[in-house]
Amino acid sequence: MGVKKPRVLITGGAGFLGSHVARRLLDAGCDVIVLDFFHQYIYPLAPSFLENMQYRHEVLLNGAQVIRGNINNKEDLRRQIIKAEPSIIIHLAALPLANVALWQTEEAFDSIVYATFNLADIVGDFTFIKKFVYVSSSMIYGDFETIPMPEDGRKNPKDVYGSMKLTGEILVKSLCRKHDVPYAIIRPSAIYGPTDNNRRVLQIFVENALTNKPLEVTNPQATFLDFTYVEDAAEGISLAVLSDKADNQEFNVTRGEGRSLQDAIDVLQKIFGQLEVRTKPENAKFRPSRGALDVSKAKKLLGYKPAHSLEEGLARYVDYVRRVNKSLLEEKNQKPQRLAKKTSPAR
Ligand SMILES: NC(=O)c1ccc[n+]([C@@H]2O[C@H](COP(=O)([O-])OP(=O)(O)OC[C@H]3O[C@@H](n4cnc5c(N)ncnc54)[C@H](O)[C@@H]3O)[C@@H](O)[C@H]2O)c1
Repeated sequence: MGVKKPRVLITGGAGFLGSHVARRLLDAGCDVIVLDFFHQYIYPLAPSFLENMQYRHEVLLNGAQVIRGNINNKEDLRRQIIKAEPSIIIHLAALPLANVALWQTEEAFDSIVYATFNLADIVGDFTFIKKFVYVSSSMIYGDFETIPMPEDGRKNPKDVYGSMKLTGEILVKSLCRKHDVPYAIIRPSAIYGPTDNNRRVLQIFVENALTNKPLEVTNPQATFLDFTYVEDAAEGISLAVLSDKADNQEFNVTRGEGRSLQDAIDVLQKIFGQLEVRTKPENAKFRPSRGALDVSKAKKLLGYKPAHSLEEGLARYVDYVRRVNKSLLEEKNQKPQRLAKKTSPAR
């Protein structure tokens, strides 16, 4: 008799990170059910938007059952859970953008805090649910106290998004303890790669480089992030999903290296040649000072091995964008002369 395949319900599974997690778990032999309401947080008519959605649905989610549903609606959520009968829930559904959460605070509260409460509040009602995995964020730490930042370091979020993600963690821990359902908490950071549609910095850099538009940047030499290729983040989450060693634990799941925005620009200049870079002022009052996270716990307990340096990850991402985001190449061909006179040195 074969071992029963885990049935995994992924909230937010049609999103950027969720669709890669789904692919990884499908490839590992799990049954995957995605629950998502296909929301977008930025202008949806960017040329690459539909191409990325299509790639997610045709390639990454191929083999998953995709259900449309809003997890803020508790009755519908109950119905979907009863139908899906998952043994594991991965909760990714949330507004993922700190700069949007800062101004759309009620939307952020509904999406990050209320939705997490709604789900964690009822996990104990279903005996078939054996584990709850919450995807949090490195923004819960605020300014990093030490570098690399360990899981048990000071948590002092500086902005609305980080505060709400930390609230989500506290709710998950307390409600899962109450229901006696093991939980795992995952803290990724600065994820980039194929199908990102939320206009984070590396998506904008890559798309602008490809279409001969300038890269606009604030403080490139002094801004450090732990850029993480999306497949590495998905692998780390999947390991936590499938290992008992993750039960009731918190994990940083990142590349484990602090790299500057200037490093990212330098890597892209090696791929594309000289790029126009413009520095812009920005109010960074709510942006924490960050860098590398300590991923030794995930490596030791879960066997996590983030495989892509920034150089390797960006090369793969650019290859994807060239292959899949054909609309960008059409845009580029319509404006072949843009770069000619405007090129300025990157540093
Ligand atoms: N991308 C990153 O760099 C990063 C870093 C740290 C943490 N995270 C966390 O990872 C998770 C996923 O982020 P992402 O980058 O994939 O964002 P995304 O916007 O691509 O995906 C989020 C998905 O959640 C869905 N969703 C949101 N609210 C929902 C609801 N109420 N009901 C059903 N579906 C809902 C959306 O429709 C979307 O498909 C978020 O929780 C985010 O906070 C992301």
